[in-house]
Amino acid sequence: MSSPDFEQALRQARRVTVFTGAGVSAESGIPTFRDRLTGLWERYDPMQLATPDAFERDPSLVWGWYEWRRQTVREARPNAAHEAIAALEHRVPAFQLITQNVDDLHERAGSTGVIHLHGRLMRSRCQRCGATLDSPGPAQPVAQGGARIPPPGCGGCGGRIRPDVVWFGESLPQAPWQAAVRASRDCDLFLCVGTSAVVQPAASLIDLARQSGATTVQVNPQPTAADDLVDHSLRGLAGEWMPRLVPLVGATTPHAAAAGTARADPPRR
Ligand code: OAD
Repeated sequence: MSSPDFEQALRQARRVTVFTGAGVSAESGIPTFRDRLTGLWERYDPMQLATPDAFERDPSLVWGWYEWRRQTVREARPNAAHEAIAALEHRVPAFQLITQNVDDLHERAGSTGVIHLHGRLMRSRCQRCGATLDSPGPAQPVAQGGARIPPPGCGGCGGRIRPDVVWFGESLPQAPWQAAVRASRDCDLFLCVGTSAVVQPAASLIDLARQSGATTVQVNPQPTAADDLVDHSLRGLAGEWMPRLVPLVGATTPHAAAAGTARADPPRR
């Protein structure tokens, strides 16, 4: 990793796309998909619960897990990485945030126009008629260790309500996916933050950005499937790296001046 090249790419960036995964919310206390579950869901890994089959087989087990996740997100606060990403939006002429996360912490940190590739935790939909509704979380706190909670019925048609998220084996909604493809093709800096880069097709955006000529950077404390793809790997926590990158990104644009750059603090590696 050549430091002058890296810093120059950040400073000269005009069109920035940020692609986030569960790791960006880890420092807010939200478990990643690769973390083990405890209590009622201990025998399952999240990849077994986030499937249409699991919901068919045991809807109360899966709905209870989602209610617990909503509760966890509701109690969490955006961290320094979410805030840094929200600040980036004001530093360059063109910016797009794409997330695989179903939580709303990016929005709560101030990000706008976020593309949610895998849906939203706080929204549900009827399996029969497709009506959508807000799901703010459990009325009663989900007990430590988890609880089976039957999913509600649709007020309109009586069908079963499910989380409005993308499960394994399901296709991504087309409009967000197409917008994400455009933003990945059309940027000069592509930053991947806190993703293992193993879930497709989301992870293919990294290669798309690289092939389209963007400088690609990832922030992750662990090795990932994108290690051989990206130009620069920054090993460490998103909450530590992202605030250090902000003053550099777009530093040569008038936008950055308007956003109030104090000084560019070169990251230490
Ligand atoms: P994963 O759970 O696969 O990976 C989380 C990544 O975050 C790992 O690479 C960790 O090393 C990294 N990480 C952990 N703490 C971090 C921190 N503080 N700062 C930076 N990185 C950190 O999550 P995703 O890559 O988001 O899909 O997984 C992608 C998709 O797979 C999810 O959207 C979900 C999942 O199964 C669906 O539900 C369809």
